[in-house]
Amino acid sequence: MGRVLRTRTWPVCLLITLFIHGNTASFNMPSPWGYQCLDYKCVKEENTGVVGLTTLNECKLTCGASSSLWPKPQTAQLGKTTAQFLPRAITLDHVSPPTVSPLLLEAFHLFLNNLDKHHPQYSDKTVTWSEPWDPSVSSHMVQVKVTIQQPDIWLTLLTDESYQLVVETSARVTTVTIIAPTFFGARHALETLAQLIAYHETRDNLMIVTSATVRDAPAFPYRGLLLDTSRNYFSVAALERTIDAMAANKLNTFHWHITDSHSFPLNLESLPNMAYYGAYSSNSIYHPLDVVHLVKYARVRGIRLLPEFDAPAHVGNGWQWGERQGLGKLAVCVNKEPWQQYCVEPPCGQLNLANPNIYKVLSEIYREMIQLFAPVDLFHYGGDEVNLNCWNTTEEMTSWMKAQNYGLDADAYYGQWSVFQEKVRQLVTQAHGGVEVPGILWTSHLTEKGRVNKYLNNTKYIIQIWTTGQDALIAELLQKQYKVIFSNYDAWYLDCGGGAWVGEGNNWCSPYSGWQKVYDNSPHAIAKALTNSTHANLILGGEAALWTEQIDEEAVDARLWPRGAALAERLWTNPSTGWADAEYRLIHHRQRLVQRGVSAERIQPQWCHQNEGLCYA
Ligand SMILES: *[C@@H]1O[C@H](CO)[C@@H](O)[C@H](O)[C@H]1NC(C)=O
Ligand SMILES: *[C@@H]1O[C@H](CO)[C@@H](O)[C@H](O)[C@H]1NC(C)=O
Ligand SMILES: *[C@@H]1O[C@H](CO)[C@@H](O)[C@H](O)[C@H]1NC(C)=O
Repeated sequence: MGRVLRTRTWPVCLLITLFIHGNTASFNMPSPWGYQCLDYKCVKEENTGVVGLTTLNECKLTCGASSSLWPKPQTAQLGKTTAQFLPRAITLDHVSPPTVSPLLLEAFHLFLNNLDKHHPQYSDKTVTWSEPWDPSVSSHMVQVKVTIQQPDIWLTLLTDESYQLVVETSARVTTVTIIAPTFFGARHALETLAQLIAYHETRDNLMIVTSATVRDAPAFPYRGLLLDTSRNYFSVAALERTIDAMAANKLNTFHWHITDSHSFPLNLESLPNMAYYGAYSSNSIYHPLDVVHLVKYARVRGIRLLPEFDAPAHVGNGWQWGERQGLGKLAVCVNKEPWQQYCVEPPCGQLNLANPNIYKVLSEIYREMIQLFAPVDLFHYGGDEVNLNCWNTTEEMTSWMKAQNYGLDADAYYGQWSVFQEKVRQLVTQAHGGVEVPGILWTSHLTEKGRVNKYLNNTKYIIQIWTTGQDALIAELLQKQYKVIFSNYDAWYLDCGGGAWVGEGNNWCSPYSGWQKVYDNSPHAIAKALTNSTHANLILGGEAALWTEQIDEEAVDARLWPRGAALAERLWTNPSTGWADAEYRLIHHRQRLVQRGVSAERIQPQWCHQNEGLCYA
């Protein structure tokens, strides 16, 4: 529906079209400004009709090799012109193994939905397939042809995520040819394709680059984001939104730190007491079907859901029912004060290694988790921040240690902790039908200098590094041939910066790491600086962590994005250049995330988006 209005405040020669869409109305007002691609920059100029100017979106699509793409592909050549079409004028042809076809169809449907979101008047509630696009646009067709070679439907560290994408146009048809070894490569290609398409701001339809050749593959097989749902609870919808944004950035691992000492939001059928005692409320719970749903939701977006069950520290609330059920004290130091003596932050809690019943409970937890997250190709054991004073001031623990003649010194406790670790590794193997699952552990007292190879076998564990990027421990782990994932907190802990939550001042790992620091944090460069070798074969990738003492779903998007996108380009492209070469693209990509419903933080005034290259220090 269109209507022509005249008003006194605007020049009478301007026709102001009022589009009425649902309950909203907006003015599509002509602008004196246009854009010209000059020297790989979109330059804003007054439209005098002398030079052919275009819109910002069209300029971004056609100005330089990867001007609209994020993360930057390994190689891309893009044409300089666009063709206009309506979203319903896209077809899909595909050749793929039968196991893969349903996944591809679902991924294609998501791709189409994402194109709808390019429209400025998009809203989940009001958009329909043919609206609100201008139906008068010409009948240009876009044919997408996808070939997938392998039948894999689950991601592993060995999955080939590469793809080739070719766009060609003749007369009224644009043909997009995607060839990928796996579904995962093909869905990444669809993300890239979505970035070769944009909304034409003055013509109210979509445009696609008329020619392109992209060859692409990730630099690292593990590209993760951690969210902690114990400090604060996040609804399933908020997790979905986070997974959507990860997919838009080709991240592939959602590391779910589900439980901790604060709360136990996972409702296990075999152990209902855990969530009954441990959830913040009966509304703050993940039910088994929620987990199964999220595993599938993530997979079609190219993402594995990596479960973490953190132990033997970082337990507490949820474990209080043991004595009442005749199993004895399962966890000790739970909520104990003054917390400073028994843990790193309130509330405290650690498993009671003196009580063999903990293994009965853990075996149920692992069994159910492995089932819900199936098929798991990695399992995260947590394993950080054990406080020896908690155990050493617990009578049941010390008398057990003495009775076995272990002594009470630190090495004795580390020894028992590593025995615990081996027992739980066996329980996970058992829960996984006897097949070993590679385990991930945080750096901890057990991984410190001189201890790590005594306690942890490098064929069984991957170590997730959360020291600073200068820590000598990194060199030791690499020299001892441990596979590692980087999450060095000085760049990749996204919760750092801001006020403290215990006491005054700033939080423990301040300052905030800006996107530039996130982007420039190169695992290979860190390894090289510390060991004189990039150790590329041992570095599986990296992960940004969002610990949520001070974050819940109201604030999560702005903490994760667009810094999560900066991480994604480091891990996908691993560019040899620094952040300054990526800035234009990130500003543009941030807008795309906002269109997709992510409340990503602004990194510059909009003026900088419209005036490329003029916001440099
Ligand atoms: C545990 O406490 C005993 C004293 O009761 C002390 O001798 C020992 O050093 C303590 N162990 C640790 C690891 O602090
Ligand atoms: C580590 O595990 C591998 C495979 O099970 C085994 O062959 C090796 O002996 C173990 N190494 C140590 C130091 O225990
Ligand atoms: C580092 O490697 C370079 C060559 O790759 C070599 O010349 C240099 O001596 C090495 N430095 C150290 C400290 O090992």
